[in-house]
Amino acid sequence: MHTVRHKRVGSTNAEALKLAENGCLEWTVVVADEQTAGRGRSGKFWDSPRGGLWCSIVLRPNITSVNLPVIQFFVANSARRALERAIGTRVRVKWPNDLILDGLKVGGILVEGRLVGARIEFAVAGVGINLNVHSSSLMQGATSTFNITGRPFNRDVILATLLEDLESSYPDIHNKEKILREWWENCVHRSKPVTVVRSEGSISGISTGISPSGCLSVKTSKGNTLEIPEGSLHFS
Ligand code: BTN
Repeated sequence: MHTVRHKRVGSTNAEALKLAENGCLEWTVVVADEQTAGRGRSGKFWDSPRGGLWCSIVLRPNITSVNLPVIQFFVANSARRALERAIGTRVRVKWPNDLILDGLKVGGILVEGRLVGARIEFAVAGVGINLNVHSSSLMQGATSTFNITGRPFNRDVILATLLEDLESSYPDIHNKEKILREWWENCVHRSKPVTVVRSEGSISGISTGISPSGCLSVKTSKGNTLEIPEGSLHFS
């Protein structure tokens, strides 16, 4: 494992993508104290002040490109376990890529990569966790481990726990069912009423599972089940 450390960088995902393009080894990790252009899902800005864990890991899994979505769930499972172990409080996940603490978003996963035909040339798994971040620097609906527990946590210890967990569970990357099952068992909106807001319109119903391609299954009041590839999920 090779770690590249930055005090301040645009985005660790962008840095890791450059390294991966240039042929770096799998398990190259980029970590920054602060990001000035942190990337979130759907092209959103990801607030990354000092005090958080902002890192990206280069993976070269030997799986086909249709299985790319599974990487996000695999990384979310590891990040959830690592954080839970570090802080001693239950952490959950929310579709498609959020880590949830006390009902609020404490972190997120962003996987980017390059596909060559049916092969994944590389994937960069970006993990952002609000650790020692004060509530004044957090977006609405977000939280930090400091906010919830009142305690500071050592970023490097949590990063080491995350990397150990990712490496030891890496063989599971070939076991899609196991990854999706664990993710769903820890999903905060499992079997609950949800509304998914999409540009084409909103869909409401009961969230009933995750499909093999990473879509959220929602059973509507008319009784049909829709597979939703992307959107912003709300539930109460
Ligand atoms: C989300 O929208 O929930 C995903 C957020 C992912 C943020 C992390 S922070 C480290 C890595 N570098 C980035 O620019 N983004 C990811």
